[in-house]
Amino acid sequence: MTKIYISFLAATLLASCAGNDVADKSTNTASAEKADDRDYHTLSNADSVAVTHLDLDINVDFDKRQITGSAHWDIKQIHPSSHVVFDTEDLTIDSVVMDDGSKADFKIGALDKELGKALSVPITAQTKSLTVYYKTGNATALQWLAPQQTASKKTPFLYTQSESIYARSWIPCQDGPGIRFTYNAKVKVPKDLLALMSAENSQQKSADGSYSFKMDKPIPAYLMALAVGDIGFKSIDNRSGVYAEHAMLEKAHKEFEDIGGMITIAEQLYGPYRWGRYDVLVLPPGFPIGGMENPKLTFSTPTIITGDKSLVSLIAHELAHNWSGNLVTNKTWNDFWLNEGFTVYFERRITEAMQGKSYVDMLWELSHQDLEASMKGLPERDTWLRLDLKGRHPELGLTDVAYEKGAHFLWLIEKTVGREKFDVFLKDYFNSHAFQTMTTSQFLKYLDEKLLSGHDDWKKAININAWIFGPGLPANCPTPDRERLSKVDAVIKKFEGGATAADLGIKDWSTYEWLHFLRNLKTSVKADRLADLDKTFKLTQTPNSEIADIWFVQAIKANYEPAYPAMKSFLLVTGRQKFLEPLYKTMMETGKAQMAKDIFAVSKGNYHPLAQKNIEGIIKGDNKYE
Ligand code: BES
Ligand code: ZN
Repeated sequence: MTKIYISFLAATLLASCAGNDVADKSTNTASAEKADDRDYHTLSNADSVAVTHLDLDINVDFDKRQITGSAHWDIKQIHPSSHVVFDTEDLTIDSVVMDDGSKADFKIGALDKELGKALSVPITAQTKSLTVYYKTGNATALQWLAPQQTASKKTPFLYTQSESIYARSWIPCQDGPGIRFTYNAKVKVPKDLLALMSAENSQQKSADGSYSFKMDKPIPAYLMALAVGDIGFKSIDNRSGVYAEHAMLEKAHKEFEDIGGMITIAEQLYGPYRWGRYDVLVLPPGFPIGGMENPKLTFSTPTIITGDKSLVSLIAHELAHNWSGNLVTNKTWNDFWLNEGFTVYFERRITEAMQGKSYVDMLWELSHQDLEASMKGLPERDTWLRLDLKGRHPELGLTDVAYEKGAHFLWLIEKTVGREKFDVFLKDYFNSHAFQTMTTSQFLKYLDEKLLSGHDDWKKAININAWIFGPGLPANCPTPDRERLSKVDAVIKKFEGGATAADLGIKDWSTYEWLHFLRNLKTSVKADRLADLDKTFKLTQTPNSEIADIWFVQAIKANYEPAYPAMKSFLLVTGRQKFLEPLYKTMMETGKAQMAKDIFAVSKGNYHPLAQKNIEGIIKGDNKYE
């Protein structure tokens, strides 16, 4: 996941354990917070006039790198209102036509740096729909790839990333996670390309580049997605399959062949998969994140394709979002943990069913370490589960707190009430709130009513307030068994004591044993020791991107130059920020600013605009390191 680099100023203020006093202190603030469930990241007025259905009709122009067309919106008037208001970001609005055929005298509001501009359209009490004709500008959601950035090198590629608030940069919409609508779309693309959306998709190219889509379940705007390219399809079973550029298709299919079983496990846990098909689209390597849970069509990075299925838990995560997130959706970005924390917990349950408990215990431990580390760099308020992002970009909430503190909180409830009861509770929760939105306070009320009420001992053991409305990791945070990682610790000791790589007795290690080993190598480990490891385990050549990333970090720290060419090729094609950030940061921290700049200069064209900005920031900070 994207780690946000925030000043280290607040780090020392952060209490790592919240005792009773924190729970008490936060209670007052908590009730004030509970009262405010407004979405501060949409300029729309969906509380009064809400969209219900979209008919999108667009043309994708690769030469101009522009989408043009129209968005026909059905609206529902909840409270009398003179206007309906949409979000836009760098869109040109050509005209707005009302359902009676008249041209609207629409207004565009002042630019808000973070939120874009409001598009306000006058309506009467009779207005039922309207059509916005528009063009995109420099859209944050769109990544346009030139032919040479694709596997075939012959045709261009386009994909969107709408979460959190970027749908407004390619569709004028009411862009809040609490606002749902169904959609149909007509998309025109160059005739040799396939277009896919978060909807019912065709599995083959059309003759003329025209495609029609239908999403008959209401979804929020951040789940609007489009991809266009020379993409092929290969079926896995009767409800799932893989889309990828042709060169990647076979490998991707092999890697993901167990997806059918994964869906079945998920259904056994928390109820039926309600979206019809489940397909995965493997994007080119510049995709800035690991995965995105676009309904019916998860978008995935190719960096999880290792040849041995060792990183498919990412697909378990995106699949799980079809319950936590897509079915029951956080109402505002302050409630982001309801999407991501639930999904990480759910993902671990799927992985446990597939790989066993000792395997998942390693995931819990490694993620716990990540969480502790990333909380050190966060302002204290950002370590509460219920966030307060008012006046700030929602991406600042995209930290390990929502994911891992959230998941650990649910794990604590499971351990307190017992797995059987908790599973029944969660299944009912998803079912009874299907296609609805959820706030933190609604969830807590439901939790109390359906699970905890009458059990003061459980409530005391869980200490909800300390988790939701308090900082850091409460002292009652559960810890996993260390059956497998303690063996790795012993190997680390041996290595540090001078044993050679060949004498370490490492065999059949999973990715997570390797990650634990490599992460915990002391900074004092010298290049010759890395050379020994490399000779024995071929780490520089590993096809596993997670292992490669941490290996390259250690190589930079130890000046182990034989790994540099492979690291440079990795940075040249991979745009996944989770991998870029530690590498560029480590270069900056170890006096290799020039190397960072040189690599960035040749690679940046392959990174997503947001990733470019992020890495530029890391490199600009170089003066203080030099
Ligand atoms: N929904 C997120 C990605 C996201 C969140 C994008 C917020 C933009 C804003 C997705 O499900 C996710 O969490 N992806 C992770 C994968 C993971 C934790 C296994 C990623 O991309 O690293
Ligand atoms: Zn997620």
